[in-house]
Amino acid sequence: MTDSCFSEVVSTRPNPEPCRSQDRGKFEILQKDGAARIGRLHTNHGLLNTPMLLPVVNPNIRTIEPREMWDKYRVEGLITNSYVIWKHDDLSSSALENGVHQLIDFPGVIVTDSGTFQSYVYGDVEVGVEEIVKFQKDIGVDIGTMLDVFGRPDMSREEIESAVEITAERASISLDIAQDDLLLNGPIQGGLHEDLRALAGQLMGDVKGTNGGFTVHPIGGIVPLMENQRYRDLFSILLSAKSTLPPNRPVHLFGCGHPLLFPMSIALGVDIFDSAAYALFARGNRLLTPTGTVRLDEITEWPCNSSELFKWTPEEVRSLDSKQREKVLARHNLEVTQSELARCREAIRNGKIWQLAEERSHSSAQLREAFLWVLDQLEEPDDGPVGISSLRMISSTNPVRKGGEKLVEDIDERPHILHFKSLLALRWRIPGSWWNDSVKDPKRVVIIEGASPPWRESSLHTVVSILEEIPESIILISTPIGLIPYSLEDVSPWSHIDGSDDIWDSPLDDDEIFDELIEFDLSDLPYVRITPGLISELEIKGKEEIYDWIDRCSIVDKLSVLNGLSPSIGCKMTSKMTSRKSKTKRMVNVYSDGVHIISPRLNDGGISLTINGARMINEYSSTTPIHFGVEYDGEEIDHPGIAKVMIVDDAIPFVGQGKNVMQGYVLGADPHLIPGQPCLIVDSNGRLVAHGISVTSARDMAFMTKGIAVRVRDGALKNEKT
Ligand code: GUN
Repeated sequence: MTDSCFSEVVSTRPNPEPCRSQDRGKFEILQKDGAARIGRLHTNHGLLNTPMLLPVVNPNIRTIEPREMWDKYRVEGLITNSYVIWKHDDLSSSALENGVHQLIDFPGVIVTDSGTFQSYVYGDVEVGVEEIVKFQKDIGVDIGTMLDVFGRPDMSREEIESAVEITAERASISLDIAQDDLLLNGPIQGGLHEDLRALAGQLMGDVKGTNGGFTVHPIGGIVPLMENQRYRDLFSILLSAKSTLPPNRPVHLFGCGHPLLFPMSIALGVDIFDSAAYALFARGNRLLTPTGTVRLDEITEWPCNSSELFKWTPEEVRSLDSKQREKVLARHNLEVTQSELARCREAIRNGKIWQLAEERSHSSAQLREAFLWVLDQLEEPDDGPVGISSLRMISSTNPVRKGGEKLVEDIDERPHILHFKSLLALRWRIPGSWWNDSVKDPKRVVIIEGASPPWRESSLHTVVSILEEIPESIILISTPIGLIPYSLEDVSPWSHIDGSDDIWDSPLDDDEIFDELIEFDLSDLPYVRITPGLISELEIKGKEEIYDWIDRCSIVDKLSVLNGLSPSIGCKMTSKMTSRKSKTKRMVNVYSDGVHIISPRLNDGGISLTINGARMINEYSSTTPIHFGVEYDGEEIDHPGIAKVMIVDDAIPFVGQGKNVMQGYVLGADPHLIPGQPCLIVDSNGRLVAHGISVTSARDMAFMTKGIAVRVRDGALKNEKT
């Protein structure tokens, strides 16, 4: 009898391509959203496209054949236990003779654990630190694991300190044995102590063997927390460890594999998961779904489908013999796991990973509690390791993004919204002069309310008549997620909040307005609230001067809030500004004295430079970033200028012609660089080489050696001979 009621043809996937030897063990980041990243790790048995899960395969019990995982479920890598193989003579001799890939019958990446988990479960293991690394090397493992010391959450601080210390001592011994033949996991212990997790991240991140450091850092000692759904502790550990771990290495959550935890963990920076959950839950007659677990004996219809379950009804699966039932459920569980990871990767690409985490947080009380705790850390970062990671996460999140966002309970605390609001509070300034050229102090704040976006359609004419009446008026728009200056009216998601019409009809109360005006430093001014009315075309004729001034404010404010330019430089750049507009009256090209310098980004409200705009900015401020590794001892300034990336001389001829800046060729980058926002690329003398959009943060660039650092839009040296 076959496993399913349908006969099926499973196409055979070709074996993976080994990586180039110089790329082995390198991790590259293809896209980032805050701490979340789409990456790939290069190995001898192909790529691991992250975030991904390594299904646990017990070499003695194969609920799903590894070959089927490769062919049918596109599993790129799995994890098995080298200690189990080492302990069983038949497995060990076969692995030593033919290699672990043949033993397991899997062509992709094979990761092995070391026996540490067995020592946690059974008290001890009889294998030695060097012996287990050598064994993993001898059987041809791609990524092995050193024998770390499992730090249980119930241990005393002294015991945990010792687990961290001994693990770090064993690290260099293990790396020396692994040499160039075996990539190694360097686990991070530290129990529930944030400082010890950060210390472990530092020690394990820094340690070098004769052939370099670790390839991956798994976070260890967390299985007991997950078993008890202590997700808040899990996330505090993750954020603490991430505060010191090198960003050029993937982070693996050891033993975490429930799809429910993927979106939040990924949003906080996890790249690799591993788990036997797909098989263990199947053995217990349970199905995984993206929002929780369901018992087979309690259902009439499938709550969540998969290609495997479409073949059966629950009743039919219940009547199968236990082995067959286990396989059906395990296949479903693996499929759900794989598709939830694909959903997460797609969410990172679309800038929606946080929203997915937010949605999933409603699926479990413990996860919700943990999610709300994370929001508290983002809103008020402390000065410990969790605060460092939280701040880093916000500052590397692109504040603007295309597409609408539904107005939901937690929208205010999304990292991109928090980032935008903090940039507004820090960098937005009242105009230096008004449309009639007066430089008087502002007289009042006018708050536009009861109007929905696009505000240039619903409110522009009203704004013009307000300014005509009193030029020294500061115009803000009331939105369901706070006040924004009229000059930023098309910044997304503010201009794309989805909800019923009445969300635009619920004005802020006076206290809320006052609190917001404090953030803008405008609380000393009187304010009026206005709902835009209809104004006839006749009334707006002859007021071009005001319209032009509004356009100019928009460019100056975007350059300053999003790109860090001082408003005075923005004013100089736009002193001879003209623009070309679309049919919907949006600026598409901005010119200075007839030269095209800027193309506003219509999909998210940001700014796109042209090479002439980049030249102009660099002339106004020809600073260079400080070299990586050198401490900045100057003052923090509100407008540090557009972020710059300084590259090595060898790369200049290529980048100057328009080729991308590759990681490893960057000498220094401004810390306020935001992935997804424009930056200038300069040489060590501050000369402009190109401009582009950064893919990673400055900290990433200091560590990474593979992948694109900046996607170049245009080279500045195109007319120069190379
Ligand atoms: N598997 C689950 N947790 C751990 C851990 O802390 N260390 C190792 N090596 N394996 C694990």
